[in-house]
Amino acid sequence: RANMKPVTGISQVTCTAPVNIAVIKYWGKRDEQLVLPINPSLSVTLSQDQLCARTTVAASADFKRDRVWLNGQEQSVDAPRLQKCLGEIRRLARKRKHKDERAGDLLGSCVHVCSENNFPTAAGLASSAAGYACLVQSLAKLFHIDGDVSHIARQGSGSACRSMYGGFVEWTMGRLEDGADSVAKQVAPAEHWPELRVLVAVVNAGKKAVGSTEGMQTTVKTSALVKYRAEHVVPSRQEDMRQAILERDFQTFGEITMKDSNQFHATCLDTYPPIFYLNETSKHIIHLVHRYNRHHGKIKAAYTFDAGPNAVLYLLQDDVPEVLALLRHFFPPSSTNNSEREFVQGLPDANRKDLPAELLNSVGLEPSPGSVQYIIHTRAGQGPQVLTDPQQALLDEKGWPK
Ligand code: DP6
Repeated sequence: RANMKPVTGISQVTCTAPVNIAVIKYWGKRDEQLVLPINPSLSVTLSQDQLCARTTVAASADFKRDRVWLNGQEQSVDAPRLQKCLGEIRRLARKRKHKDERAGDLLGSCVHVCSENNFPTAAGLASSAAGYACLVQSLAKLFHIDGDVSHIARQGSGSACRSMYGGFVEWTMGRLEDGADSVAKQVAPAEHWPELRVLVAVVNAGKKAVGSTEGMQTTVKTSALVKYRAEHVVPSRQEDMRQAILERDFQTFGEITMKDSNQFHATCLDTYPPIFYLNETSKHIIHLVHRYNRHHGKIKAAYTFDAGPNAVLYLLQDDVPEVLALLRHFFPPSSTNNSEREFVQGLPDANRKDLPAELLNSVGLEPSPGSVQYIIHTRAGQGPQVLTDPQQALLDEKGWPK
């Protein structure tokens, strides 16, 4: 293997893994320990050209203990979710030892893990999903474990299991007691729908909201709506969404995406005490999208929000210039806030389009400078990748942070 360096007595692997944004939301566990969901979910994996996590893992008989560095800072390895992932990988390596001798090779060694996001964690962009997917992918490669390991990523963070594949990915609920069948599966590769685009509007947020783990616990405990949702709404939605993706039917895709985001936030309001993730800017973006769609007499853009105020818009390539122009018009960068950074990052910001007065009138919002910090223009992309160039590793040849 090109990415292994057995000569130095140390094995090392570097991987990158993507962010994913759900169009059918995961919210609620039926088993906290194993991270088993109360409903299936479905997401789009975003291109790693714009957003990704990068992790290097190394194993050596010289390491005295397992150690982890995250975004430049050493972390405690005792964190339960980290322990779960490490433990599960080692358990699987032990099990596979009979089949593939190499899988058991490193079982006596401690590991060093170094991980980074190429985007600010503070932006609240599903960093745990990319991070755990990357950790599990890197460890699996290090220990020569082949095949699906999404059930391990799931135990790091539920949504992380969907970042183990590219394109359009579903996370099945599973029925087994041990969760072995609660796994991620690709519905279609990214290339299946090349016109699909994604705009992430990073909204100026105040203090950090309730974390997803804690938030969904309270929801499951107190909300009757979330139970109804899991039993009577999501199952058929999941099917309809899968069909819409296979048929590249943007009307259905967009409608279900918005309705499912709204229902997720409705279950948050139905939580007692209630949880609010959307802020005023989020709500203005929701209005903008609906008025924009009404103006055109069809769904041209669809919003979705996770456990925070940032908006993710799904749309088709041809409509990007118009939607970007609208966002710039109603949420222009404020002069104080944004001097350093480009307002639109990622894929090219196609030539500014003149907005007809009629369209501006239909949207009918007051422009609100500075309430959107910046926008990331991206698309669907591939699952985790192995990087073979040692220059791209986060650990040096002895296995220590560079
Ligand atoms: C709103 O995967 O972060 O983004 O399993 O407790 O780590 P844990 O939760 P997490 O929850 C993500 C919730 C969501 C919806 C989604 O991505 O499906």
